[in-house]
Amino acid sequence: MKDIESYIREIPDFPKPGIQFKDITPLLQDPDAMLETVSRLIEMIGDVKIDKVVGIESRGFLFGTLLAQRLNAGFVPVRKPGKLPYKTYSEVYELEYGKDTLEIHQDAIKKGETVLLHDDVLATGGTARTACNLIKKMGGIIVQCNFLTELSYLNGRNKLRGYDVESLFIY
Ligand code: PRP
Ligand code: MG
Repeated sequence: MKDIESYIREIPDFPKPGIQFKDITPLLQDPDAMLETVSRLIEMIGDVKIDKVVGIESRGFLFGTLLAQRLNAGFVPVRKPGKLPYKTYSEVYELEYGKDTLEIHQDAIKKGETVLLHDDVLATGGTARTACNLIKKMGGIIVQCNFLTELSYLNGRNKLRGYDVESLFIY
């Protein structure tokens, strides 16, 4: 098998000019590369019991559920507004232009549960920070913010100060 990083395809100027999009669909097409990716993401966590894996809609769901299964943890979706059917907590955050909202089910995390936050990309960090705020508000203990890729030139880590931030591929 090739190095798993070589399965991540760079698409220039998507979805907007100037953005180098990291396309993980070639990786998703290859079962061995997927297995290897899950193992590598798990290695970053170390030997800590995780009760819940929180994955952020939508690309955070892809490896989030696989991680949860491998960790014998529950999976919790954090979603864009109006998608979750039960009672939710929500938090608004600033985008470059405008605002966005993330939501989580109120019964998704119990006080004192250990949580792994996972998403495919850490860019400016606004999305992950908002998810962390929701988890903390519910009393979850964030063990790690875990990413497949990180666009380090966007300084997303600065928004996640105080958390253990680990990314498999840093650009
Ligand atoms: C992308 C990516 C992360 C987020 C990172 O999601 O999957 O979730 O942006 O950006 P940030 O660090 O600047 O907040 P997007 O909103 O494009 O949606 P998708 O996952 O549904 O494709
Ligand atoms: Mg996303």
